[in-house]
Amino acid sequence: MNIIFLGAPGAGKGTQAENVSEKLNIPNISTGALFREAVAAKTDTGLKAKEYMDNGGLVPDGITVNILKERLAKPDCENGFILDGFPRTVPQAEYLEESGVVIDLVIDIYVPDDKIIERISGRRVCPMCGASYHIIYKPSHRGNICGRCESRLIIRDDDKPEVVFSRLETYHGQTEPLIDFYKNKGVLETVIGQEEVDDTSKLTFEVIQNFNAKTKIE
Ligand code: AP5
Repeated sequence: MNIIFLGAPGAGKGTQAENVSEKLNIPNISTGALFREAVAAKTDTGLKAKEYMDNGGLVPDGITVNILKERLAKPDCENGFILDGFPRTVPQAEYLEESGVVIDLVIDIYVPDDKIIERISGRRVCPMCGASYHIIYKPSHRGNICGRCESRLIIRDDDKPEVVFSRLETYHGQTEPLIDFYKNKGVLETVIGQEEVDDTSKLTFEVIQNFNAKTKIE
C-alpha cells in the first residue's frame, strides 16, 4: 500500500506517518527528514536545501525529486511506503504519476492555522534519532531528554515564529492545490486533526481500514 500524508506544516503528518509505518510495517519517507540529514552531513544537496528551508520556502522540485527517487529505489520500498511531505507542488505530484508510482490513498490532515502555530511552538525534536515530541501533547517521559536515545532535545531551526508564518504561506500557495488534484483522482480522504494525538490516530486508522474494506469488496 502506498500512502501520502498531506497537510500544513505542523498538522501532524510526521506523527501519524510514524504510527502507520510501524503498524503496517512499511517505511515512512519524509523529504523534510531527508533534507535535514543532508544538511547535517553538509552534502551539496543539504547546502542547497538549507537556504530554502531556513526561509520557509520549498526546495526546488528538481532537487526534491532526486532525493526522493534515490530513497524510493531502496529495497524496503518494494512492499509499499508512506510519503510524508511529498509531493508539495503539482509538478511533484505529476512526477510521481509520470514515473508510474501508484498512490492508493492520500490522507490530508486538516488543522487550522492558529492551532498549527501552537503545535509548532511546542515541538521539540531529537537531533540524533529524529524523534519528535510536544511539550504538552506528546512530552518525552524524560523531560528535555529524548526518551528513545537520551540526547538533549532541541527546537528545529525552521520552527522559529517568523519562519513558521512563511511556511504556512508557502503551504497555502503551493501545496494546498494538491487537495483538489487528489480529490479529482478519487484517492483523497480528510482527517480533522484532533486535540490529542491518539484521537487523530484513531481517525487515521479508520480511513485506512475503510480503504482496505472497500478494495476487498471491489
Ligand atoms: P518537513 O519536515 O516535511 O516539515 P513540514 O511539512 O513543515 O512538517 P512538519 O515536520 O513541521 O510537521 P508535521 O505535519 O510532520 O507535524 P508533526 O507530526 O511533527 O519539511 C521541512 C522543510 O523541508 C520544508 O519547509 C521545505 O523547505 C523542505 N521540504 C520538505 N519536503 C519538500 C518537498 N516535497 N518539496 C520541497 N521542499 C520540501 O507535529 C507537529 C507538532 O504537533 C509536534 O510537536 C507533535 O507532537 C504535535 N502534534 C501532532 N499531532 C498532534 C495532535 N493531534 N494534537 C496535538 N499535538 C499534536
